[in-house]
Order: sequence, then C-alpha cells, then structure tokens
Amino acid sequence: MSQAQVRETINEASGTVFRPGLEGVPVTHSSICDIDGLQGNLSYRGYSIQELAAKSTFLETTYLLIWGELPNPQQLRDFEAEVQMHRRVSFRVRDMMKCFPATGHPMDALQSSAASLGLFYSRRAIDNPQYIYDAVVRLIAKIPTMVAAFQLIRKGQDPIQPRDDLAYSANFLYMLTEREQDPLAARIFDRCLILHAEHSLNASTFSARVTASTLTDPYAVVASAVGTLAGPLHGGANEDVLAMLEEIGSPNNVSAYLDDAITNKKKVMGFGHREYRVKDPRASILQDLAEELFARFGKDEMYDVARELEAESASRLGPKGIFPNVDFYSGLVYRKLGIPRDLFTPVFAISRVAGWLAHWREQLGANRIFRPSQIYTGSKSRQWIAPSERTTTEGS
Ligand code: CMC
Repeated sequence: MSQAQVRETINEASGTVFRPGLEGVPVTHSSICDIDGLQGNLSYRGYSIQELAAKSTFLETTYLLIWGELPNPQQLRDFEAEVQMHRRVSFRVRDMMKCFPATGHPMDALQSSAASLGLFYSRRAIDNPQYIYDAVVRLIAKIPTMVAAFQLIRKGQDPIQPRDDLAYSANFLYMLTEREQDPLAARIFDRCLILHAEHSLNASTFSARVTASTLTDPYAVVASAVGTLAGPLHGGANEDVLAMLEEIGSPNNVSAYLDDAITNKKKVMGFGHREYRVKDPRASILQDLAEELFARFGKDEMYDVARELEAESASRLGPKGIFPNVDFYSGLVYRKLGIPRDLFTPVFAISRVAGWLAHWREQLGANRIFRPSQIYTGSKSRQWIAPSERTTTEGS
C-alpha cells in the first residue's frame, strides 16, 4: 500500500473528504460506550469502567451493554440462569470442530464454529424481542464453551462439559484448564472480561454493525466480527506483546529495542491507540490485576521488562501520544491464569461478543444499510484485446 493511497484526500467531483481508516468520521449515533481519549476515560452506558471492573460481573455488564440498564435482581438471576442452561453445544458442533486441523489458529476455529450456530438456530426473526434475547443468551453462553472445546480437541481430548455449579468465568477456566481454579483467579478473569467487553466503533464492532445492517442473522454478525478481531493490529496484538517481551528478554535490553523500533519504524506491540492520547484506562486496571495475581501466585519475570518498556517509552513515544493500550498487560494476566498464548484473542472475543451484540441490537433499532463511496483511481474506457494480441504487462 503506497502512502499516496492512505493520505487524506478531497474528492474533487463531490467535494467530500476521504479519511483513511475513517479516522474521526462518525458512522452512527450510539449510546453504548463513551471514550474520552484525552483524559483517558471510558464508560459503558454512563458507568465508569473503573466502577464496573471493581463492582460488576461480566454477565451483569453484558446485560447493561445490551439492554441499556443494569438488571434488577430478578432480571439478573433469570439472565444468569438462561446463560447457564445454554452453555452446552450440540455434539454436531463438537464433531465439526474435531475435523478442524489441530494446527489451525483458535480464532479461525472460533469464527467457523460461531458461524455454524446459524445453521442450528436459523429462524431469522430479528424484529422479535424474544428471538433477540434468545440469540444473545446462546452466543454469550456458547462462545466460551467452543473456545475451551477447541483447546481440548486439538490436544486430542474430548471437550469437557460445563459445570452448573460454577459461575460463568469459573466455568470457562474449568473447561479450559480441566481443573477448578482459585476463586481469586476466576474473579480476576471475570474482571478482564468486563474490561474487554466494549469499546465503541473499533474495527470488529464496525464490522459487526456493517454485517448487522444487512439484516442477516446474529451468528453471521458475530462470525464476521471474530474474523476482524483476529488481526495483529486489533485483538491479535495481545499475543504479539508476550512474544515481544520475550524477544527483549531483560529490562537491560529495552533501550536498544526501542532504538531499533523507532529507527526502523516498527510498531511496539501493545502501544498506541486511535482513540487515546494517554495510557488506556484498561491498561492501568489490567496492570493492577497482574500485580494482584503475581502477589498471590508468583511473579512473571516478563513483568519487569514490560514496566521498563513502559517507563522508557514515556519519553520516546509519549510525546506522540503513544502509550500502553489494553493489550499491553492482558497477556501477562492471561499467562498467569494458565491460558495458552494463542487463546488470548479468543478470550478477547468471549468478552467482546457482549459489545458486538449491543451494537447489533442498536443497529437494528435505526438501521440503514452501510454503503460508503470510493474515489475511483483506476483506468477508464479501455478496449478489450484478444489474448494473442496482448503484450506482457506488469500484472502478468
Ligand atoms: N509503536 C510505535 N509507533 C507507533 C505505534 C506503536 N505501537 N502506534 C502508532 N505509532 C506511530 C506510527 O508509526 C505513526 O507515526 P508517524 O506519524 O511518524 O508515521 C503514528 O504513530 C500514527 O500511527 P498509525 O498506525 O497511523 O495510528 P493508527 O491510529 O492508524 O493505529 C494502532 C492505531 C492501534 C493500529 C497502532 O497504534 C498500532 O499498530 N499499535 C500496535 C498494535 C496494537 O497494539 N494494537 C492493539 C490496539 S488496542 C486493542 C484493539 O484495538 O484490539
């Protein structure tokens, strides 16, 4: 991609402006999530992320995001019970997953299995509130089960069934690691899910809204968003952060690593954000969660490298508004919880499905299909030439 194609340009014919990556271009009204990237504030439906991460649960936050209000005790009990009841996935889905290559990335497995749910629940009644409720329940309930199932299947084992006596996060960790986790670990994981649940019009959520705008089913909406989240500039960055910290190896090597990255214009993974010019508030909370875990279960030696990288980069990347984002400390937390590295992004998806579904519902409430325009830069008025008369061209 040449720089000429990614610079802001004015379409002379229409007088409209092309902003690469739609930077600063509103594409919808939304009342779900508010970000103040200069102050480093984030709220869901008006509640600060700090308060939700400290006091709420992932399922309560999911309800808040999707239906706009905190549930009353009965609504919360009902929602939790429905989600618990739908955690199991059909043996047909499990059998399909057994045919996936064990070497495949778990995000690809998740995208395929999420899409397959549309085959089982194909009634597309998106103007029916009960259909919406049921689809939300199924997706929130089954996505963790499918992530955990693929982990066991690729090791050659049968997936283990969800346990009804365990709450949402504790049950996921149990299905994944095959043992019941310490309640502190389960609570910290639940708080991680709250932190990742929603973040306005990021790439995967935009993808979800575009897909939703065609009035397709919610399983297709989630599958398209999972595919978008997988990329290394989005959710996939959390995997790359740990690889980078290990490559640096020691706090003493941080300065040289940064010299090289800055000179060669390499991205430092887990840093930078389109919305924030300060440290991402979620990164600060995740750092506290990492410290809580290390205090209880022992430190990860890469934490010192991470802290040194954050300190060194403050004077080198900070002036450009580049600070740690949500992915910078999450990998250290997940590793301490025993989650394999290539499941970090699927775990992100388990959480973000709440935000995607909130945007799905909001999009349906005031829908117009997305159909942006382009500035055509290709050839015009060309004549077709018979193959025998063509000369060799660059593309051949
Ligand atoms: N390390 C070094 N320089 C950076 C970084 C970084 N991580 N991020 C941005 N920059 C520089 C970039 O080189 C450019 O400099 P210049 O103007 O001199 O050419 C300037 O900052 C603007 O960068 P950009 O890539 O145009 O910014 P963007 O808003 O398009 O991209 C981003 C945002 C998150 C894709 C980018 O910061 C990045 O690639 N970060 C690393 C990957 C990462 O951590 N992604 C997770 C994002 S947060 C969670 C999520 O969305 O899933």
